[in-house]
Amino acid sequence: MPMPNGFNYISAVPGSGSSIAADNPRRLVILGSTGSIGQSALGVIREHPERFRMLGLAGGRNIRLLAEQARQWRPGMLAVLDASLARELAELLPPDYSPEIVHGKEGYESLATLPEAELVISAQVGAAGLPATLAAARAGKVIALANKESLVLAGNMIREACRQSGAMILPVDSEHNAVFQSLRGEKSSSLKQIILTASGGPFRDLDAADLAGVTVRQALAHPNWSMGAKISVDSATLMNKGLEVIEACLLFGVELERVAVLIHPQSIVHSLVEFEDRSLLAHMGPADMRVPISYCLGFPDRLGLQSLAPLDLLQAATLSFSAPRSTLFPCLDLARQAFASGPSHLVVLNAANETAVDLFLKEKLSFMNIPALIRHCLDEHPGEPMDSLESILDLSARTQSRAQNWAVR
Ligand SMILES: NC(=O)c1ccc[n+]([C@@H]2O[C@H](COP(=O)([O-])OP(=O)(O)OC[C@H]3O[C@@H](n4cnc5c(N)ncnc54)[C@H](OP(=O)(O)O)[C@@H]3O)[C@@H](O)[C@H]2O)c1
Repeated sequence: MPMPNGFNYISAVPGSGSSIAADNPRRLVILGSTGSIGQSALGVIREHPERFRMLGLAGGRNIRLLAEQARQWRPGMLAVLDASLARELAELLPPDYSPEIVHGKEGYESLATLPEAELVISAQVGAAGLPATLAAARAGKVIALANKESLVLAGNMIREACRQSGAMILPVDSEHNAVFQSLRGEKSSSLKQIILTASGGPFRDLDAADLAGVTVRQALAHPNWSMGAKISVDSATLMNKGLEVIEACLLFGVELERVAVLIHPQSIVHSLVEFEDRSLLAHMGPADMRVPISYCLGFPDRLGLQSLAPLDLLQAATLSFSAPRSTLFPCLDLARQAFASGPSHLVVLNAANETAVDLFLKEKLSFMNIPALIRHCLDEHPGEPMDSLESILDLSARTQSRAQNWAVR
């Protein structure tokens, strides 16, 4: 996969010198407002209501929560998964408020491309987030990107869209946000490597025998972070770190070999960058997504977060680091291999993983069979051109049905 040059997203920051003025609120759309990231973003905005104007909120199926958010923020447009949910949502809104309610892929795309919107938070989960993220990139928006799957599926397409439209991406993922902050003001030629940290998830100390019997509840009980179900399982398998390695290559224009991963159980150092002079810059902070979200919302300024307790380093006391155990957690290597193989392998990786995680959450696949299913799909895939959104969605759908068949064989 050809690499982008330098810190291409960072150096292209439109208006990076301008602050958010209270008399000129930033016009905002949140895709995935009912999810973990969406709700954290609303928590940050609640601390600075005068700095933002909410234009649109998009949920999936949770229309009760979306209605509650809509009543509070009163955006002019709402989006949900399908037409029947849209009708139900309309019933839940007060009589003095009648926003436009759109639905499905086209609905999400129209919300992401609202002409007045400046900043789009992309926080839908999985491949479902790709069409709206790509639409926002084509429309020249500033995108606060949580939906890492978009980049994994269509990194080159999104990068080209950003180049042509002047759109830019601010990374919400805590690791990439840490790298982004550490790289500001640096020359890309000085960067030696990026070191992503991983908590290791709830199973980091288990052996193969213990892993064979782990339950969904255990997988969802992340030791440090509170997150949605899919990313919690991805963290437990280390696929999340695999997706993040790919995300780092694409965001910061570095080769696979220059993105390392270290297990850091305390989740205090959110990532590091090493420069040519052997300096290491690390970003530390509380393990709370409001930190990177607020950085993206306020960029280039920092927004105060009064509701968040400061990190007490005396309490934390120890910072430890170790190498990932790739034999027991093969998803990290599978992601690296897929990235090296090419764009269609990344689509297969992501689709097989989404299917495997869904089956695991429904208790139809064991934890150890998640990487087995992904490996099977990758081994069978000969590679094919990925030159449009349609080709990505088509291969995704074909892989998901192949993965389902493998799981019920
Ligand atoms: N949570 C974290 O701490 C964290 C950290 C870094 C990156 N991320 C990334 O951020 C993204 C969101 O994660 P999350 O943890 O916030 O997930 P989540 O809690 O499961 O929320 C997902 C959001 O996407 C919506 N959604 C689900 N299926 C959809 C579909 N088919 N079409 C459109 N919208 C759909 C959900 O709507 P309903 O709930 O209304 O159905 C919800 O608003 C993921 O890509 C994840 O990897 C998350």
